Amino acid sequence: MKLWGGRFEKTTDALVEDFHSSIRFDQRLYKQDILGSIAHARMLGSVGVISEDEANSLIEGLGGILEDIQAGNVEFEIGAEDIHMNVEKILTERIGAVGKKLHTGRSRNDQVALDLRLYLREEIDHTMNLVEQLIQTLLHIAEEHLETWMPGYTHLQKAQPITLAHHFMAYVQMFLRDIGRLKDTRKRLNSSPLGSGAMAGTTFPLDREKVAQELGFDGVTLNSLDGVSDRDFALEFLAAASILMMHLSRICEELVIWSSGEFRFISMDDGYSTGSSIMPQKKNPDVAELVRGKTGRVYGDLVALLTVMKGLPLAYNKDMQEDKEQVFDAVDTIQKCLLVVEPMLRTMQVHRDTMAYGAKGGFTNATDLADYMAKKGVPFREAHELVGRIVLDCSKKGIGLEELGLSEYQALSPIFTTDLYESIGIEHCVRARKITGGPSPDTVAEGIRISREVLRGLRSGFAPKNPEY
Ligand code: ARG
Repeated sequence: MKLWGGRFEKTTDALVEDFHSSIRFDQRLYKQDILGSIAHARMLGSVGVISEDEANSLIEGLGGILEDIQAGNVEFEIGAEDIHMNVEKILTERIGAVGKKLHTGRSRNDQVALDLRLYLREEIDHTMNLVEQLIQTLLHIAEEHLETWMPGYTHLQKAQPITLAHHFMAYVQMFLRDIGRLKDTRKRLNSSPLGSGAMAGTTFPLDREKVAQELGFDGVTLNSLDGVSDRDFALEFLAAASILMMHLSRICEELVIWSSGEFRFISMDDGYSTGSSIMPQKKNPDVAELVRGKTGRVYGDLVALLTVMKGLPLAYNKDMQEDKEQVFDAVDTIQKCLLVVEPMLRTMQVHRDTMAYGAKGGFTNATDLADYMAKKGVPFREAHELVGRIVLDCSKKGIGLEELGLSEYQALSPIFTTDLYESIGIEHCVRARKITGGPSPDTVAEGIRISREVLRGLRSGFAPKNPEY
């Protein structure tokens, strides 16, 4: 018989049995479910709702089930619906009638809310570790490439010269913010909903704070309706995961472009590339493409859960059982992607010469020529106009700005003197951008130092001074 079978005269339809059962996927929550039950049982004993002896047999029984599940010795039943009722059923089979006391003052509604919070808290911690490893690798690459000149782009058209270090440090900022977002999510999810009951709390004198403390929560939720029907923490996680995937997708997109024959800025390591079944010459950046593709799944998980939640009247509704597969899918996807992107970046080969060559063409020093004039007193807008005409002229001649003779410059304006050539040298263009956040090697080196400090702060619990993270 079902644990809830008392008021039923007929059995559940076989199709429905399968349709509404969640054990196939929520068995992933077995550890959280059992640890939550152990804390609940201990508290029931300590406040005298059950005897200490009863509490101890519940705790012992639950501990045994946990070990057996971990050892792979437990078969779950579709008919027992979900992880909560499977565990309770096994418990009662093992320790007898006292097992039936476990669910005193509790509902699966607050139980599942608890389990999901505990699960996500652990996975958020693990995800933050993976993001940290990725950041460490990017910082490493940046350190090695402070003077690897490359073109910066807007509209995917060459814009101004920068360095590879500067480029990758942009991603470091994104991933640091991702850690900040995950930390925020973790902070808000870390309240215990246990004691909310089905939706109206309970008449038993439960010690909610004691349970919360045992399970490592910072406090308890304040409203029983909200306690069972809130999935903001899952949505926040999915939103943070979506933004993180978007960042991974953008870096992967760049790796795809950069490894193309047209760019040749980098070569992917063979271990992170694949071939073609027909074209023998091919070496494709499939891994980077797949990460880009998987981003869609995680966005889907977020939109799916937002949509599940949007029309639900308070409090719990069975629709909410649909939260778990989205969360699990997003957890699996981001962790797999983070795991593979880190070594893919670490092992790629950078072609400094091609990058430096690319930094030179395309009039990437045109802004610097206009700035040169502006520094000599020409209003910037006028300088912009004149340099625009010089660019047009040079592009017709097929030469760069640095190849136009001094006499030709002086024919256009008397302010040009021979120092102009130094000002528009690619290296100089980068080195002179010492402004905070700019690409000069010194500035980027300082950025690396500060980012390391921020990372340490984020991971050790100190609030970083910079509110950006
Ligand atoms: N398996 C359910 C879920 O995941 C547990 C809560 C069920 N509660 C209920 N009243 N049917 O949401």
